Amino acid sequence: MKYLFRFLVAAGAAVVLLQQTAAGQFPGMARVNRDSLRALTVADHARMLAQLGLQEVRPGCDPNNPDAVRKPNYDELAANPYLYYPDPLTTFSGRKVRNARMWWKERRPELLRVFEDEIYGRVPDNAPAVRWEVVQEEKVIMEDIPCIRRELAGVADNAACPGISVRIQAQVSWPEAAEGPVPVIMEFGFMLGSFSFPGAPKTKSWQQQVVERGWAAAVIVTGSIQADGGYGLREGIIGLCNRGGDRKPGDWGALRAWSWGASRLLDYFETEPQFDATKVAIEGVSRNGKAALVTLAFDQRFAAGLIASSGEGGAAPWRRDCGESLENLTSPDEYHWMAGNFIKYGCDPLTPDDLPVDQHELIALCAPRPCLISSGLFEHDKWQDLTGMFLATVKATPVYELLGAGGLNTDLYPGTDVGLMDNALAFRQHHGGHESGPNWPYFLDFFDHFVVRK
Ligand code: GCU
Repeated sequence: MKYLFRFLVAAGAAVVLLQQTAAGQFPGMARVNRDSLRALTVADHARMLAQLGLQEVRPGCDPNNPDAVRKPNYDELAANPYLYYPDPLTTFSGRKVRNARMWWKERRPELLRVFEDEIYGRVPDNAPAVRWEVVQEEKVIMEDIPCIRRELAGVADNAACPGISVRIQAQVSWPEAAEGPVPVIMEFGFMLGSFSFPGAPKTKSWQQQVVERGWAAAVIVTGSIQADGGYGLREGIIGLCNRGGDRKPGDWGALRAWSWGASRLLDYFETEPQFDATKVAIEGVSRNGKAALVTLAFDQRFAAGLIASSGEGGAAPWRRDCGESLENLTSPDEYHWMAGNFIKYGCDPLTPDDLPVDQHELIALCAPRPCLISSGLFEHDKWQDLTGMFLATVKATPVYELLGAGGLNTDLYPGTDVGLMDNALAFRQHHGGHESGPNWPYFLDFFDHFVVRK
């Protein structure tokens, strides 16, 4: 029975993948094979190294190969090679940030600048306008709730480079009976289709939980904004802004591009009276959790975030050595998420300790807006450095406190399914795997309390 179920799930996943390929969610996937994509990626990575005048990146951790040069560390006693973490409340020139005014006027802007220049890259000045089209609107029943589901395409103006077109795919569903502008929960993910896994155990989807509360559930498809691989950097929104050329070292990577797309979808909600654009949360898991954190940090119009299993490049500190390492994110597999400039921290003589900021300060940039940092069980999520994500949340707390919001009141790791959620900066490890699933009801209560009923 168990195997039959697994087979059905695998077969279902293949069907979904084919549907998504056909629907253009993975542009180009049907045309090109993996090897040629890899060759394009490796060449792009090499060209970026050449632009930076660098020779070689240090190897990242490889959890799967027993002969790997570097295996991930999971020993907590060895996980903290660097003692010093930059203080979010001390400026780069060494002055203490003593009040909210100084945070907003001086410290927040200088932190944003460094996260842009050194880590995620800058959105170019010529980023195009996006025009949203309704592709389709239908009435659907979600469990027993009559809903409206609207499929959207965000068409980027490509007059400057007609050879590259970008159509951002998004979808939003909300209860037909909802009155007045509704709050929106937005996810980086996949669109709901008509397909469901045959025989799959019924758990309530997050979309269902959202519409049950009378709110709207939206998804935005990252791959329709920017491909998830170095091979795609001359295309997508990044390629469009560079007119098909290479990135410069300070240009944006995919995480920033995805978050830019989410901001454009929020622009759309601002123009449509049935949505309350002042109450929009962003959520994502894993690489999409990294993108969700970048979104919440950079665009203050987002009211809240659920940052799930985001790990390295998300809520986990670079200065830890636990699970994934900085060097994985400077390798050809993942450098496209980041600015080219970031690669230098993965090359001798620089180390993570040379970064002027660390990820607790990215969390701090979300202050005072509600932000839940989330993970699954250690055995499923250890690559994401659970302790590190908790530590970063603790270290971001003073900024939330300075702004009158509050964060974690302890630096002792809570147990599984024990939410530290009394304040706007919150942490919860759930009993599931590498997912946000079990944390949804808690996040929706949190959003209700801190955003909807505020
Ligand atoms: C890889 C990657 C992680 C990422 C994850 C995912 O494991 O190393 O950084 O979070 O993929 O997105 O599923």
